[in-house]
Amino acid sequence: KRFKKEFPEGFLWGGATSANQIEGAFNLGGKGLSTSDMAAYKDPYAGKSVNNFTFNVSSIELEEYFNNPEKYLFPKRWGIDFYHHYKEDIAMFAEMGFKVFRLSISWARIFPTGLEEEANEEGLEFYDKVFDECKKYGIEPLVTMSHYEMPITLTQKYNGWISRELITLFDKYARTILERYKNKVKYWITFNEMNMNLNSLYTGAGVLEDKVENVEQAAYQASHHQFLASALAVKACHEIIPQAKIGCMINRIESYGKTCKPKDQLQALKADQINTFYPDVQVRGEYPNYMMRYFEENNIKIITKDGDNELLKEGKVDFVAFSYYMSHVTEDRPDAYKLAGQLDSPIKNPYLELTQWDWPIDPIGLRISLNKMYDRYGIPLFLVENGLGAKDKLTEDRKIHDDYRIDYTRKHIIEMKEAIKDGVELMGYTTWGCIDLISCGTSQMSKRYGFIYVDQDDKGNGTLNRIPKDSFFWYKKVISSNGEDL
Ligand code: BG6
Repeated sequence: KRFKKEFPEGFLWGGATSANQIEGAFNLGGKGLSTSDMAAYKDPYAGKSVNNFTFNVSSIELEEYFNNPEKYLFPKRWGIDFYHHYKEDIAMFAEMGFKVFRLSISWARIFPTGLEEEANEEGLEFYDKVFDECKKYGIEPLVTMSHYEMPITLTQKYNGWISRELITLFDKYARTILERYKNKVKYWITFNEMNMNLNSLYTGAGVLEDKVENVEQAAYQASHHQFLASALAVKACHEIIPQAKIGCMINRIESYGKTCKPKDQLQALKADQINTFYPDVQVRGEYPNYMMRYFEENNIKIITKDGDNELLKEGKVDFVAFSYYMSHVTEDRPDAYKLAGQLDSPIKNPYLELTQWDWPIDPIGLRISLNKMYDRYGIPLFLVENGLGAKDKLTEDRKIHDDYRIDYTRKHIIEMKEAIKDGVELMGYTTWGCIDLISCGTSQMSKRYGFIYVDQDDKGNGTLNRIPKDSFFWYKKVISSNGEDL
């Protein structure tokens, strides 16, 4: 094998989004209500909890939300109105030189309640138009089948993925979109950031936490069902579109031990296992032994059926996709294992700067992660999310000087390149929120990730005009030089 010094030819540069954070039009085109449509706005600095999802649906009846539009804001219902702006947005992605555009399909746009026999033609047509628009510019769509949303009926009727019924319903949905788009989409991801089920079960699996006895047990049970649904989708994809590639996805969080005390390092290893548990199952086709020990010692019992093990083996993924935003520090403490699944770490790393939302910035951690993941799996990796959420200022002459975002992205690209030199096989890089969108965690518009500014505030006021930021022109240069001109 040749020692690579640069990004390979055909490297998939682009950007990433999700349906519920951009589309809007939550009740148009026959779409049903999604779990994400019930995610209320939450300013983390005004209130305490950023975990707005659990707060939303489990503590208050749905009717109260519908009857109090002025009390609760649901920004994911309007997104950035990509539903009506997709042509303009994709043209701007093309101007940056995108080779790939990651987006997700909203399950509720295809099957409004998840229960219908027939798919909603208007929903299918919408994505046809989006993919055709991408094709016009030679942009490959990278499609996530399930990105943090599902028809809310499935939460109300089954309490989400805790129920095995969802596997068949998802299979119907997955087969429908694979069949429909078999000539248009060749890169697929089954579930977004599956490991975040341990962080927010409503977001990832549509499960209301106050309706289950043991949240951790429920998270693993729901995950088991998603593993099976993912395996079925992989099988269906291989059968329907043999030339396509389909991957799994996690939120990769690199973990460091606080000191070189062996017990701190052991906790770092365990935190890593909690993180890689998901791809371990989806790449290798079986549950790893360390997890079996954990389940046994913590009295977690996963209900399985005959044939589950075989299905996991038959549905192994072609690549491992992941997001990377931060690293964590861990130490020898009784709750270390539980903390490993969470997004916020109480232990700070004194060597790292924080974003305005207190996320530690660690580009070298990305290189470490890429190496570890590739050593572990030996199949291609795809970095499908990474970016800086920051407050941007629109100047009077309608410019956004976001040198901080350029700096963040540049540093991560440099480390990606180092990892490629280390021998890592990396398919591509899609920066998160290539266009400003609604934040997943807080539903804020003001937490901006994009290279394209969208004129809209947290309450949904604004012209929705799209304005290229300084980073837009910088990223265009990066792509045209295949990562050389940074
Ligand atoms: C990832 C999600 O966890 O992080 C995205 O897949 C999300 O949907 C992104 O938007 C950034 O998180 P946030 O909360 O800043 O939007």
